[in-house]
Amino acid sequence: MAEPYFGGAQAGGTAPSDCTAFLQWALPRLGLRWAGYRKVRGQVCKRLRRRLSALGLADLVAYREHLDRDAAEWRILEGLCRVTISRFYRNRGVFDHLRAEILPALCGYLRQDGASRLRCLSLGCCGGEEPYTLALLWRLDLARRCPDMTADILATDSDPASLARAARGCYGAGSLKDLPPEWKAAGFEAEHDLYCLRPEIRRNVRFLEQDLRAALPAGPFDLVLCRNLAFTYFDEAGQRQTAERLARLMPPGGILMLGKHERLPAGTPGFEAVSAHRAIYRRGGDIAE
Ligand SMILES: C[S@@+](CC[C@H](N)C(=O)[O-])C[C@H]1O[C@@H](n2cnc3c(N)ncnc32)[C@H](O)[C@@H]1O
Repeated sequence: MAEPYFGGAQAGGTAPSDCTAFLQWALPRLGLRWAGYRKVRGQVCKRLRRRLSALGLADLVAYREHLDRDAAEWRILEGLCRVTISRFYRNRGVFDHLRAEILPALCGYLRQDGASRLRCLSLGCCGGEEPYTLALLWRLDLARRCPDMTADILATDSDPASLARAARGCYGAGSLKDLPPEWKAAGFEAEHDLYCLRPEIRRNVRFLEQDLRAALPAGPFDLVLCRNLAFTYFDEAGQRQTAERLARLMPPGGILMLGKHERLPAGTPGFEAVSAHRAIYRRGGDIAE
């Protein structure tokens, strides 16, 4: 993929590969890892180009100098580094498995304990695609099989623009391309060229602006989705810290789903793999406080 052009390279300024070099320098300083960004850097590079233009800076060398002078700019850079890519029913096989195996078993387990509520958390929920997928899955399928239970879904993200999209609940066709077709009709109303979620699907989903590295909602949660965020973009210390904090948020028997290509750091206490190739873990016994 060609990288966005920065500054005045054509007039003797920076080379196109400067965005990669810049990110390799800046990301570790933000507790983030370049390896996670390699394939999706285009989105971040585009935002950086806009930021340079807003600041009237010629290139990323000047931007580094600006970061040296103004510590507050690091917070802005952190915001520019959020990868906001998502879609409904992302990684179909994973959601099929959740629907067919994991959720019915989890409901059965909770029922034995006398519970009537499945408490779900979606971290890094982007524009709502992931928690609403869970809501669709529950409403259009699981609710029939677990009629004695309800599902409450809390979804958090640190990006206000993504949360505003989630609050609108309207999406282009591309966001729905992996969704079972019958769910599109059952879950959405067409409005011009957008698909808007029906109110009954949105009802049990709540959104909260929160930086996962600073805070987590008060638990406990029986099902936690932390996909394509901490275990792709955070550095190793951040990943370990996140895994430990998630373990404290979940009761034994709770289910943690990561992104399809993500794994918990080796030796993370408190979790056992349920399905290694789908990155699904079960919360085991207690971990030391
Ligand atoms: C690549 S998207 C993943 C969306 C969804 N979980 C999925 O897998 O389709 C990552 C999301 O995490 C959010 N994010 C990034 N850093 C975060 C942080 N420190 N705390 C909370 N959310 C964060 C971004 O704003 C973005 O919406």
